[in-house]
Amino acid sequence: MKTTAVILAAGQGIRMRSGLPKVLHPALGRPMVQYVLDAVSPVSGEKSVLVVGHKADQVKQTLQDRVRYAIQAEQLGTGHAVQQAEDLLKNKSDLILVVYADMPLLRPETLGSLVEAQKTHPGPFTMLTVEVDDPRGFGRIVRNEEGEVQAIVEEADASPEQLAVKELNAGVYCFSAEWMWDALDQIELSPKGEYYLTDLVEIAVSQNLSVQTVSTHEPSELIGVNTRVHLAEAARLLRARINQKWMLSGVTIADPLTTYIEPSVKIAPETTILPGTHLQGDTQIGAQCVLGPNTIVRDSQVGDSCQIEASVVENAILEDHVDIGPFGHLRKGAHLAEGVHMGNFGEVKASYLGPGTKMGHFSYIGDTTTGKNVNIGAGTITCNYDGRQKHKTQIGDEVFLGSDTMLVAPVKLGDKARTGAGAVVTKDVPEKNVVVGAPARSIRVLENEE
Ligand code: UD1
Ligand code: CA
Repeated sequence: MKTTAVILAAGQGIRMRSGLPKVLHPALGRPMVQYVLDAVSPVSGEKSVLVVGHKADQVKQTLQDRVRYAIQAEQLGTGHAVQQAEDLLKNKSDLILVVYADMPLLRPETLGSLVEAQKTHPGPFTMLTVEVDDPRGFGRIVRNEEGEVQAIVEEADASPEQLAVKELNAGVYCFSAEWMWDALDQIELSPKGEYYLTDLVEIAVSQNLSVQTVSTHEPSELIGVNTRVHLAEAARLLRARINQKWMLSGVTIADPLTTYIEPSVKIAPETTILPGTHLQGDTQIGAQCVLGPNTIVRDSQVGDSCQIEASVVENAILEDHVDIGPFGHLRKGAHLAEGVHMGNFGEVKASYLGPGTKMGHFSYIGDTTTGKNVNIGAGTITCNYDGRQKHKTQIGDEVFLGSDTMLVAPVKLGDKARTGAGAVVTKDVPEKNVVVGAPARSIRVLENEE
């Protein structure tokens, strides 16, 4: 049976009090609607239809062609929203899975079991319900004495008796398409001036058809984000889920409550993550690393057995056995080869540091390549910018840079060249040359010395 998801994302999300459409508000670095798309995709082989309206262009710009779009020009309610997908889907799908885009915690397993339940159900639809103490503004499920579902009553329209009902409408439904397209036409305007999708329950009941419910064992999964308070709560639960997954796969997380790992990150086993650590974007971490405390790694590749303490690493590559920090900053294009050591207060940008290179204290290295086993003395700076352009610095193997060396780029230092403390290097230094002074002048050439 062909199953297509219709995801509702046209609402403004007034309760967010935001210029950004609600479904684009990020949880752990990605828009909440994206979580819903990811949850739906294993269940339906078809490209989902996203119903957009409020700031539709902004939503489209974010999701591009990951979905098909139906436009709801005026936000006249959830029933009206689903109707906007009719032109795209009528006679093209047997089952329609309707999900609200503000539910980032939904799991594919739950959606799958809902769809499977409807496949064997003689009635027109199956919906997901949850029993919890805090009603969170959800619609209440009304049942008759036989326990059959009779209606969903929205909180705003509920009687005190109905308000006390603990079984709630999650906002996820699987419909027989043929029945649904007809029934949507029969929804009447609510007192609030909306066409409620939830009225389909009463419509089915009036036709003597039965509505089936599937309840979930993990109520947190059904959090609908209506306010920024809910958003923070959803983000915390998503985070806990991700942290748990990594811990079960062999990663030590010393304090999951202060560890922020985005969904796109990958971590090899036997790595330890210390408190206050944020792993973001397209990041891969190798095995046996120790990250943190207080480290941010964003869009970077980190090899095995690396240590990064209290540092920020962005768009960088670290090969194996690299150690950084405390207080290092790797910026875009930093590539640290095996065994590089970078101590406190270093910054590296668009540079390759060769294997075994040491940079202990207070240095800036930009637009530079170094050979292997280079010693970068405390306070070394590559002066790569002349006010107009960036220039390159090339440093050979086993070069020794004295403390406070200024390398005025463009400049090259041959293998085993050395600079004295405070040298200002404005001209290329041939191999094995030792230079001192400001600007540095040659004083001698190494002979038969290592
Ligand atoms: C809805 C349900 C409620 C359920 C709750 C679960 C209805 C009438 N109510 O209430 O029973 O318990 O979800 O979270 O369905 N949307 C549109 N177009 C519209 C209106 C809404 O696309 O005209 C979209 C919104 O962008 C949102 C979703 O539908 O993603 C749900 O709308 P929302 O206003 O959040 O509904 P709730 O009041 O939470
Ligand atoms: Ca909602």
